[in-house]
Amino acid sequence: MTCPILEIENLSHSFEQGEGGIFDISFSISGNEFILLAGKNGSGKTTLIRHLNGLLRPDSGQVLFKGCNIQKNLTRTRKKVGMIFQDPDTQIIGDTVFDETAFGLENLGFERPMIREKVSRTLDRLDLSHLKDRNPSTLSGGEKRRLAIAGVLVMEPEVILFDEPFANLDHPSTQALAGLARELNRAGHAIVMATHDVEPVIRDATRILIMENGRVAEDGRPDALVKKLESHGVKEPWSSRPGLDLGGSRP
Ligand SMILES: Nc1ncnc2c1ncn2[C@@H]1O[C@H](COP(=O)(O)OP(=O)(O)O)[C@@H](O)[C@H]1O
Ligand SMILES: [Mg+2]
Repeated sequence: MTCPILEIENLSHSFEQGEGGIFDISFSISGNEFILLAGKNGSGKTTLIRHLNGLLRPDSGQVLFKGCNIQKNLTRTRKKVGMIFQDPDTQIIGDTVFDETAFGLENLGFERPMIREKVSRTLDRLDLSHLKDRNPSTLSGGEKRRLAIAGVLVMEPEVILFDEPFANLDHPSTQALAGLARELNRAGHAIVMATHDVEPVIRDATRILIMENGRVAEDGRPDALVKKLESHGVKEPWSSRPGLDLGGSRP
């Protein structure tokens, strides 16, 4: 059993308005996991994932990164636990792809040559080098997602959080992003991905947490839970349905 990297302890958060929130959630994440946080709209995925890098403060309970409450050192938390937001436009602030990727390092006070080296390496890795002088607003949806990942990856995080990464992406961009998440996990980053669409990553996930009404309704291996998804309002992936008849194959 590897040591947990993140521990979520009795976490609760309710909002001033409405009945929504998350309620008494506890689980641990170890460094090599690829966790899908599945659940229908409003089940609490975004609220939970925003607690994992300290964007929200809990009403009660806590999140620990390697044993320390993440709220105690938010600069370290944001570096070690990176978040890819659902809408990449909300994350982009730089005038060029290069500046956008350099932003976090500049805030941390890195020297210029070191920034250039780290950014170049990260842009290469994400196949964005040829776009380094482009204004981010001119990028395609898939390129914007990769840029958001670049801005996080350049900080060398240990955990990468994705909130609905496949929203508004076409099939090739979805496949490419799923491949990238798999690669990042294999390279040693823990992944937590909130998604109502598990299909693109069902083969890569090591664990699924199914959320319902702000609580974790199921927590287990993908092969054990895939048949339970639909009862919690999440579409079962086509790839798990044997004998699928797509029509046109009858004699
Ligand atoms: N800022 C907010 N104010 C009031 N209620 C909210 C707010 N954000 C989320 N909620 C409510 O909390 C619940 C969980 O929302 P959310 O975490 O966004 O779910 P998901 O990401 O699974 O769609 C929902 O009932 C939602 O309406
Ligand atoms: Mg959400």
